[in-house]
Amino acid sequence: MSGILPYQTYKGVKKGMMQKKGWWILVIVSVGVMIPFMIPYLTLNPANSRVDITSTTQYSILVTHIGCALIALITGFLQFMDRIRLKNPKVHRYVGRIYVVSVFISGILALAVVFYIENFTKATAFLTLAILWLFTCWKGYRTAVKGHFNAHRIWMMRSFGITLVAVSARVLVPVLLITYYTFNGFMLPEGRDKMIEEVLNVNIWAGLVLNFVIVEWIIINKKNRVGKSAN
Ligand code: HEM
Repeated sequence: MSGILPYQTYKGVKKGMMQKKGWWILVIVSVGVMIPFMIPYLTLNPANSRVDITSTTQYSILVTHIGCALIALITGFLQFMDRIRLKNPKVHRYVGRIYVVSVFISGILALAVVFYIENFTKATAFLTLAILWLFTCWKGYRTAVKGHFNAHRIWMMRSFGITLVAVSARVLVPVLLITYYTFNGFMLPEGRDKMIEEVLNVNIWAGLVLNFVIVEWIIINKKNRVGKSAN
């Protein structure tokens, strides 16, 4: 029998490998999508901004938001890596603090950036996102401080799910463009620019709903698995 894995163990190992592969694809897609979006802001030249800039204050707030959001994205990924979390709890706690501080700074600045957005649908999407980002991260932090590690894991999954809306909202743009085109009977009655404008006004809402469903689905699935193995 030695050398032959029982079927359930084999299935478990295979699932674990698939999950790891999926995780790395998510890391690569997220970094690959976000870096090109950030490069214009790393030049610190307002002329390179895609967002309309009306004052130095607005530009400083936007650039600081983006810088801290990038730190939150990178540290967030590190926090979910088993190698760090399980084998180096000290590093996990240290990087966790960096994640929380960067989310708070970036999230509070995002609340300010929202006031510069003219479109109501887009502004409310970013406002909701910022509030949920701050709230879930705060809950994740507080539960860790209190030693409620199960709740901490769940709230941090929610928090990072919100962080990743920055990615999914951008990945969803082509899907939304096709949806718009289809809804308009495969025509562009108000032109190409109007289509892009409409899509960029709703993509944050779409990313928020998508990530919310995925994260809650993962949380429920995990709970069910733990429940089953306890029975
Ligand atoms: C999750 C909570 C977040 C909120 C509430 C938020 C909010 C905002 C807002 C309000 C803007 C201005 C948009 C406009 O005026 O059109 C913006 C722009 C931007 N944010 Fe965030 N953001 C979040 C997360 C992130 C993350 C995690 C990243 C990157 C890792 C990021 C990177 C950027 C970039 C690159 C821009 C400039 C967009 C462009 O050039 O089109 N944000 N954000």
